[in-house]
Amino acid sequence: MASVDNRGGFGGKIAAILAAAGSAIGLGNIWRFPYITNENGGGAFILIYLACIILLGLPLLIAEFSVGHNSKCNPVDAYSKIRKGWGWLGAMGLVSVFLIMGYYFVISGWTLDYAISSATNAISDGYFQEFTTSTWSPLIYTYIFVLLTHFIIIGGVQGGIEKASKLMMPLLFAIIIALAVYSLWQPEGRAAASGVFTPDFSKVSGQTFLDAIGQAFFTLSIGMGAMLIYGSYFKKGTKIAGTAISVVALDTLVAITAAIIIFSAGVEDVQGSELAFVAMPKVFSTMPAGEVWATLFFLLLGLAALSSTISMHEAVTSYFVEKRNMSRKKAAWLVTFGAMALATTASLSLGMWSDVTILGMNIFDTLDTFTGKFMLPILGIMTAIFVGWIWKKEDMKAELTAEGGIDKATYPFVRFLLKWVCPVLVSIVFVFGVIDFIDKL
Ligand code: TRP
Repeated sequence: MASVDNRGGFGGKIAAILAAAGSAIGLGNIWRFPYITNENGGGAFILIYLACIILLGLPLLIAEFSVGHNSKCNPVDAYSKIRKGWGWLGAMGLVSVFLIMGYYFVISGWTLDYAISSATNAISDGYFQEFTTSTWSPLIYTYIFVLLTHFIIIGGVQGGIEKASKLMMPLLFAIIIALAVYSLWQPEGRAAASGVFTPDFSKVSGQTFLDAIGQAFFTLSIGMGAMLIYGSYFKKGTKIAGTAISVVALDTLVAITAAIIIFSAGVEDVQGSELAFVAMPKVFSTMPAGEVWATLFFLLLGLAALSSTISMHEAVTSYFVEKRNMSRKKAAWLVTFGAMALATTASLSLGMWSDVTILGMNIFDTLDTFTGKFMLPILGIMTAIFVGWIWKKEDMKAELTAEGGIDKATYPFVRFLLKWVCPVLVSIVFVFGVIDFIDKL
């Protein structure tokens, strides 16, 4: 294990918030949240989603930050340091985050191509299908995106991750505000957006709760070691609860603003990946200076993705540095090549290798479904159980109330959420999710 003193850390509170918000804010907010909201009754979904974020997401984020901050270790050592024999929980998170990288880097690569192709007005009908199923260009953009991530990671915690976050996050906020102001400027935009936000409770079903919890965990990067490793880099005096609240607030604001932008464009009938990559370019092409807005939109997606991929990469890299005694550079290359290899199979599975299927799904969808439907809820349940039941009560309380910054009156409530509410609710949802999955096979 590398010594605790030379493992680096964030310079201060703002850096901690920006880096963690960067991990949280990603494709999940701008690409996934709007279409899931639309499928589940608009405003009705948002209300349920907000309840999940506050009752499940926030306590789990505090829990994960605390494990990292308390142990000052990579995800595997962090759990085993607090309780011997629990390193597997960190390892399971790292395996999951690696599998997520497999498809996340592919979509991230698309954003680069789309930013460039939008600027040159090259996106026509059928472009998405043609581009994503072709062999070389999506692969090359995917590799470029992995390498961008790689070189930020090589720069170290302060020189790479912190610097990149301080540069990228304000830019991201500026772009999303500009796009939102522009969308709401148009009266049709305002009408279209308010239509989607009007709650439609007839669309709420059991599935809505599944989707809300899944989205809450995904968007907050819960259980994968990414938030844990960032928590381990928090400087002394960085209050965990306060940081978590800021991250949750920024993440939610960005998701809702992204939904406003997308719905005010009047594209509420389009679903899934088609929304950002097919419907939006169509809308932009009819607008004055559409190329500029389209380029900004895909730049926004790319920035959001990059600030997330660096935290995924860092979680796995930190393991090889501290547990396997590699240099940071060597560890980063190992993760980079691994991610490139897996992303290659995911990208090709949309075209050339579309015949290769697992339970009827191509590799891309398998990675998404397995991590989202199975690993994410299990990791959420286990993290809550670890902090609520396994971590020595006094030590946990000391961490949460001292460095955690949770006052004595609020602490029992947070503890109750972690001990009972998270494990029970998420287990119910998980079981129904599995039944639903098997039904659909
Ligand atoms: N939160 C990211 C998003 O909304 C996605 C994500 C899921 C993630 N798990 C993660 C990011 C783990 C970093 C680490 O797009």
